[in-house]
Amino acid sequence: MSLKSGARVEDALERLGHEVVAIDVGHDLVTQLRAAAPEAAFICLHGRDGEDGTVQELLEIIGVPYTGSGVSACMRCADKVVAKHALRDASLPTPDFFAFSETAFKQLGAADTLPAIEERLGFPVVVKPADQGSALGIRFARDAAAVPAALVAAFSYSQKVLLEQAIDGRELAVSILGDEALPIVEAIPVGEDFYDFEARYEIGRTDFVCPADLGDDVTARVQQLALDVHRLLGCRGLSRVDLMLEADGKPWVLEANTVPGMTETSLLPQAADAAGIDFDELVARILAEIPS
Ligand SMILES: Nc1ncnc2c1ncn2[C@@H]1O[C@H](COP(=O)(O)OP(=O)(O)O)[C@@H](O)[C@H]1O
Ligand SMILES: [Mg+2]
Repeated sequence: MSLKSGARVEDALERLGHEVVAIDVGHDLVTQLRAAAPEAAFICLHGRDGEDGTVQELLEIIGVPYTGSGVSACMRCADKVVAKHALRDASLPTPDFFAFSETAFKQLGAADTLPAIEERLGFPVVVKPADQGSALGIRFARDAAAVPAALVAAFSYSQKVLLEQAIDGRELAVSILGDEALPIVEAIPVGEDFYDFEARYEIGRTDFVCPADLGDDVTARVQQLALDVHRLLGCRGLSRVDLMLEADGKPWVLEANTVPGMTETSLLPQAADAAGIDFDELVARILAEIPS
């Protein structure tokens, strides 16, 4: 995934006239960065280290400017629980939730709180690891009997797990470029089993529509909300905010991603394209957003 994004960005950077050194993240990352001594690093990594501030911190230490958000915003967004607390504290709409660690579960009897949690959140309840992406480890528990297995699954991905109210609605993503919200992408599941994420994320099981078929008013409100989230969490340059939209037009923020995908089928490039920004220009704009 990140390799695909990387190759595409590499080609674009070359077309833009930059000299590019492609670096795969590994044990010698710092050595390679120091040897290349680049003017800037274009970050195309997904998964923990690329998105949670780890690589950003290393780049700060060795003094290489880099694309996208700084360390603290990456840390906030990579942890859905931290991000959701920030949203809730700022009165931005995010589905009601509770979270606890595996330690609380195994050693403090957190399991005994499940009935109270379930009563407040209702069913189905969404169980997800605090710090994963691509819907990995996410389960919808339809009833109390399904919750323990969902928790075990989520704990296999993360030390901290989130139980979240399920929102019945349309799935939207708003990409932010600079300080502008791009056209909204709607992800429309193809086929029956809405809750089967593995099937949904297989190629062809989800249709993407951009700009999403929403009224002007809803579009403007959702884009403004995404910008508010981007700013609140301290994101810079680019981000992608994932939301659910209820039938009555009420949006709920699920999460913000600081390193959105950059493959052919990724949502940020699709949204940029709908705004008349081709891939090379998108890459140029992301570079131009690096603070000097
Ligand atoms: N509270 C929720 N209500 C309804 N659907 C949800 C909820 N949380 C997650 N989902 C579904 O799961 C997908 C992935 O959830 P998300 O929180 O964006 O995590 P990630 O993309 O990091 O895996 C969403 O795009 C949505 O389809
Ligand atoms: Mg998401």
